[in-house]
Parts: sequence; C-alpha cells; structure tokens
Amino acid sequence: MEGELVCEACGARYSLDASLWRCECEGLLDIEFESRFDLERIGARPRTMWRYREAIPIGDDPQIVSFGEGFTPLTRIDIDGKQVWFKQDHLFPSGSYKDRGASVLVSKLKELGISRVVEDSSGNAGASIAAYCAKAGIGCHILVPEGTSAGKLTQVRLYGAELTEVPGSREDTARATLQEAAATYYASHVWNPFFFHGTKTFAFEVCEQLGWRPPDTVLVPVGNGTLLLGAYLGFTELLRAGVIERVPRLVAVQAENCAPLYRAFTESLEEIPSIETSETLADGIAIAEPVRGRQIVRAVLDSGGSFLTVSETEMLESLAMMCAKGFYIEPTSAAAVAGVRRYLGHVDDQETIVSVLTGHGLKATEKMAKVMPQMLE
Ligand SMILES: Cc1ncc(COP(=O)(O)O)c(C=O)c1O
Ligand SMILES: [Zn+2]
Repeated sequence: MEGELVCEACGARYSLDASLWRCECEGLLDIEFESRFDLERIGARPRTMWRYREAIPIGDDPQIVSFGEGFTPLTRIDIDGKQVWFKQDHLFPSGSYKDRGASVLVSKLKELGISRVVEDSSGNAGASIAAYCAKAGIGCHILVPEGTSAGKLTQVRLYGAELTEVPGSREDTARATLQEAAATYYASHVWNPFFFHGTKTFAFEVCEQLGWRPPDTVLVPVGNGTLLLGAYLGFTELLRAGVIERVPRLVAVQAENCAPLYRAFTESLEEIPSIETSETLADGIAIAEPVRGRQIVRAVLDSGGSFLTVSETEMLESLAMMCAKGFYIEPTSAAAVAGVRRYLGHVDDQETIVSVLTGHGLKATEKMAKVMPQMLE
C-alpha cells in the first residue's frame, strides 16, 4: 500500500505499517495517500462503504473487517417547510456513524497483527470499536465517563469488551486512557488517522447519491470532529481526483453548553480556548478540549463554512419533532437537526443542504423518556 503517516507538528514521516497512533514527538499523525475513484467500477459494486476500495488505505482484502456497512439512505425530510437531505447514519450495525471509522481502523489493526487495544469514548465510538474488535477477534478495553447511557454500556459489555467507567469529566476519561496507551495500542477515534479514512466515506456516499454532485452545504454535529474532518477529507479527495468541482460549505454544530470551537471560530482565536461547560443533552459532542480542534476550525474556514450553536430547548424540540416524523434518533443527533433549523432561517430556497442522523435512539431510550415525559402522557 503506497502512502505515509505524516506528523502535523514536526513533519516526520513513517510507513503506513508503523504501529503508531501518534508521532514520536507526540504530534498528530495524518495519512498521505492518493485516493482513486473509478466511478463505473464503484457503481457496479455492492452498496457498502467499501465500494470506494481504491480510496481506503488498507492493503489486502482479506484484512477487511466489515459487516457490509455503509451506503446508508440519503432521505429528503421536510423541515419547517423546506426540503433537507439527511444521511441516515443511525442505521449502522452498532447504531452510529462511528462504524465507518471503526471498520477501517480495526481492519488496519488486523493488518498490523495487533491483539489488544484500548479506546475511550462518550459511548458510541467505544461501542463501535468493541463491535469490530469482536468480529476481528481483537481484545479491547473501553473507558467511558461515569453516567454514560445504560444502553451503550450494555452494548460494549455484550460485545465482549472490558469496560471501565471513569469518574469525572470526558477529559478525565481521556487522560486515564492516555496513561494506559503507554502500554497498549490506542485505537483512538480521535488520534488515529485511519479512523478518518473511514468517516470520509460519508462524503463519497453523499456525492454519489446526489449523482456525483456535491451539495451546497453540509451540516454536522461536532465534538471531536471525527465526522466533520472525515467529510472534509472525503470532499477534498473527490475534488483532487476531479470527480467534483468544489467542496461544500461545512457548517459545524455545537451545543451552546459546550462550544469551544464555536468560540475559537467566532473570536478568530489561534488556540482553542478553555471554556466553562454545563451539562448538555448532546453528550456525544460534549468535548471541551478537542485534540484536533485547530484542524477542525481550519477545515470549516477552508470550505467557506461556519459554526453555530444550539440550545438545550432547541435540541429537545428537534428531537421530539424527528421522533414524531418516525426517525428514532438519540439526543446528540438532534443537535444537527436543531442546527439545520437555525441555518434554514437565513438561506435561499435553492440551496442543496445535507445533514446527518448520527446515532440510533434505541441506545438512549431511558434518557429520552426522562427528558420528554410530556410526550409520553
Ligand atoms: C451520536 C453522535 N453524534 C455525533 C457525534 C460527534 O462526533 P465527534 O465528537 O467526532 O465530532 C458523536 C460522538 O460521539 C455521537 O456519538
Ligand atoms: Zn512529530
């Protein structure tokens, strides 16, 4: 497999076969790799994210760890009288879009012959890595913050992973995991660049499903930016390969109660600021210290996009609205819908807008019953 790992901080280069999740200087690694797209071949293949085979930096097919995931429906939904496309990524095998990244990352683990990993998450990435590790026969230890949805905890355990609930914030969980990562390979959805070469298939699918045309605007919920950075990577690869002529505007949606990137963007800050946070319904994007924060802000700027925040009330209303339309999504996913509603307030009717439903409601049913009791009377 041609390509290299490149450090963002010091420029060091490593083979794609190096067992590294960050640079020896502790900088972030990205992958330099030339994606190829043969649209006719792609169109003739099964409808999974692996149909973009020549754009995914994994060596031989037998190493691929897959449940036949991807190519989720892109569905038009009426939002406040306007038509918006939503990618139904809550319909993945483990119930969230994280499976895009996990399928590629765990395939790489298998290729490297790694037998045990550690990973931390607010719940969904951990469940996803645990599912794919179960399929690959790789041992895994998942760390989550105390208070994570019971559904996600059960899911991780039943996949056979070891599970630790860490007291304190999401950042405390990340710190505990970094310590363990000194001895065990870190299958991090945030640090590990292979994860992003899975989430980028979101962009490929959106363009293919729109007849190989990019939409005008893509709105995604953002905490650590694994979907946003993946989407940016995917659209820029399609641009570089001459498949599309422009990258869509990327609009990043954060919860008002935890919005460090929104602040960095609106105040034009070089560094991501330390912020005060309060609890939010959108626990999946409650990330106060996003490791790839500067990359995320740069990607949004480069696409000509922007950041916006949504309140707890807006999320709750959007969650209720989507459920009433038949889309059973988890509260974090309602942040994107609330973001779309805000965005629609000031755009023209001709824009093609794509957003995404990121996680399945069945993972968080108890929480949803608690926050929307009036809907159940
Ligand atoms: C349901 C859901 N949506 C969106 C996200 C946002 O992903 P990220 O933190 O990578 O931006 C997450 C992350 O856990 C999630 O679980
Ligand atoms: Zn380095």
